[in-house]
Amino acid sequence: EASAPGKIILFGEHFVVKGYRAIATSTSLRARVSVEEAGEPGIVIESENFNIKGYLNLNLEGNVPRELLVYVEILRALRERGFSLIPHRARVKSHMPISAGLGSSASTSVAYALAYTALHGDPLKGRDLLEVSLEGEKVAHGRPSGIDNTIAALGGTIVYRRGEEPLKVEANIPGGYAFLIVDTGVKRSTRDAVEYALRVAESFWEIASLIYEAADRIVGEALKALKTGDMKTLGSLMYVNHGLLNAIGVSHGKLDAIVDEARKHGALGAKLTGAGWGGCAIILAAETAVGDLAEKISRHAVSVEKAKINVEGATIDYSSL
Ligand code: PMV
Repeated sequence: EASAPGKIILFGEHFVVKGYRAIATSTSLRARVSVEEAGEPGIVIESENFNIKGYLNLNLEGNVPRELLVYVEILRALRERGFSLIPHRARVKSHMPISAGLGSSASTSVAYALAYTALHGDPLKGRDLLEVSLEGEKVAHGRPSGIDNTIAALGGTIVYRRGEEPLKVEANIPGGYAFLIVDTGVKRSTRDAVEYALRVAESFWEIASLIYEAADRIVGEALKALKTGDMKTLGSLMYVNHGLLNAIGVSHGKLDAIVDEARKHGALGAKLTGAGWGGCAIILAAETAVGDLAEKISRHAVSVEKAKINVEGATIDYSSL
């Protein structure tokens, strides 16, 4: 079995697709994939969350529901890297809400690639794990920046720019502060939101580039605030980042209501996280304000949870063997 963490994007989602920087941190909600060699002649992939199964022969042909095609692409990428395809049964389970911006597709992709290659006695590492899991992300997201599978593989907190080595970030969150993850319950497609934002940006790039540039500057300032533990500045930057995401058209009425409510009730910062158009928002607040905030915000949300962030990356658990 292998597992990989989900994530929240603290700053820079969407802007990262066009090569600007973003900051992501891992969360304690993980995806788990178990893989066992099977007597049957082919491959069976089961998703507990969707309650569906896919069947493939060793030429990767068969009957696979759309939601499981990511795993077929991962097997194809592994075959290209010289891994033989062996009959097996894989069980995939994500312990985070799906299509909510918390990284479930990336963490299941990373966990599957790791569990399958561990079965071969040669678990993927480093760049190989990132490249193979990105093939899964392409099926799920179209034009992924690579930030989601990178944070799922590495864990911790990272600053990411497309095409460059991700850098680990020192995240000093002083005691007495909490991040809340607020799920609007509105499901949306990352692929559609990303395509929309790209169309908006490209239709008036002379102005939009200033928005993208501002988002990148926010990342620069946020890195300093994370290092020094300056939560007041970090929070203010979150509000501005939300405004920029709204400007490129990826917010949603519920997300805006959550951010407004957070501002009204004393949160240090709030923004949408991930692709937007629904999914989740994050809030930074003093611990003492959390109870009141959660109550005020709950009418716009299906859940408000305190996040445990900056956790371990992808791992293999051999104990079930
Ligand atoms: O899948 P989500 O909702 O976590 O969004 C991923 C982040 C985006 O920046 C919107 C897309 C990307 O590939 O970076």
